[in-house]
Amino acid sequence: MQKEFTLTNIKDVAAELWQELQSYNVWAFDAAMGAGKTTFIHALCDVLEVTDAVGSPTFSIINQYQTAKEKIIYHLDLYRIKDEEEAIQAGVEDILYSGELCLVEWPEKIPALIPDDAVHLKIETINTETRRITLQFPN
Ligand SMILES: Nc1ncnc2c1ncn2[C@@H]1O[C@H](COP(=O)(O)OP(=O)(O)O)[C@@H](O)[C@H]1O
Ligand SMILES: [Mg+2]
Repeated sequence: MQKEFTLTNIKDVAAELWQELQSYNVWAFDAAMGAGKTTFIHALCDVLEVTDAVGSPTFSIINQYQTAKEKIIYHLDLYRIKDEEEAIQAGVEDILYSGELCLVEWPEKIPALIPDDAVHLKIETINTETRRITLQFPN
């Protein structure tokens, strides 16, 4: 499954993906720096009506959000994580297996910790406004 989007329809696309992927707990975003992982995750948080502020995760590895429906969302930004051992120390593994929704940036930092049943979302830059998202379902 593939879809293209701009900032104008990003929330619609996030809502569509939520309809399709809500049974998956772990969403691993595979994309280069600046592709739009954080921006897409924030759009999804809008769709899910996150009630606390969706702050910039720039300096935070583990972000926890609360939705209007009292659900917890974890947003992991592993950019600054060195390896799997450091991630485990930080509590990342516990979160990935918590059963809560986990939205993960830079999953390639911890390949062995990403659950086999995670859905992967690849984001590619088409041009300044346009991104393409491709879903990769677990085997
Ligand atoms: N269609 C789009 N989807 C997501 N981001 C976009 C799009 N078009 C432009 N952008 C811009 O690209 C940048 C993406 O940054 P960010 O979400 O932080 O990327 P990442 O988390 O992948 O490093 C933002 O400045 C955003 O405004
Ligand atoms: Mg980011």
